[in-house]
Amino acid sequence: MQEAKHVAVIMDGNGRWAKKQGFKERIKGHEVGASKVRELTIHASNVGIKYLTLYAFSTENWKRPKTEVNFLMTLMDRYLKNELPLFLENSVRFETIGNIKALSPKLQERIAYTKEQTAHFEGLTQVLAINYGSKDEIVRAVNEAVKIGDEVTQESFNMLLDTKNFPDVDILIRTGGDVRLSNYLLWQCAYSELFFTPTLWPEFSMEEFDQILQKFAKIERRFGGVN
Ligand code: FPP
Repeated sequence: MQEAKHVAVIMDGNGRWAKKQGFKERIKGHEVGASKVRELTIHASNVGIKYLTLYAFSTENWKRPKTEVNFLMTLMDRYLKNELPLFLENSVRFETIGNIKALSPKLQERIAYTKEQTAHFEGLTQVLAINYGSKDEIVRAVNEAVKIGDEVTQESFNMLLDTKNFPDVDILIRTGGDVRLSNYLLWQCAYSELFFTPTLWPEFSMEEFDQILQKFAKIERRFGGVN
């Protein structure tokens, strides 16, 4: 039975969940979504996942109303502040992908501090994708390659991506019912198994996560070859 090393998640459906609950503000969904991140991180760590990459804010999310963008930024800062003890307790290493230079200096400092405090852990690595978009990542990598000036190979190009220290994605999960990749890990998901569920992110359960792991375990992955 194969085990998944790297699980990536598109945490969609927070706004719809808030509406369904009768909250006037979509942001309530993000708040509950953040506690789901905590729950999944502990669970993934307990079941032996090595990398959990979560889409917290995309390069396109800046188009949202300013109040929602500000709320998400504040929420990430608060999340990191509150989660540090949890990371330390569970040996979780914290990492990010995306262009974090565009974030506020305060949030950048918080990110740097959390990375530094958890850098030595070898359990689960939680990777938050913040101001992340695959096209942006690939273009940044191409510009880097141009600067270096050597012909690239798949291996050398891989080393120019934000994900250079992580293996390719085994399982991609998208909650919220839409069936698309939304500019997420396009290179890294070339041979991933894709799971789309109608469950809204705040309602995603650890039972559903385990069911996905069980389905993955039975999939015959050929990577373009034959068995
Ligand atoms: C998509 O739901 C979700 C996001 C754009 C942000 C994801 C953020 C969180 C889960 C919380 C913050 C995370 C951390 C780590 C603190 P949506 O708003 O597009 O939902 P909708 O499709 O129902 O409108």
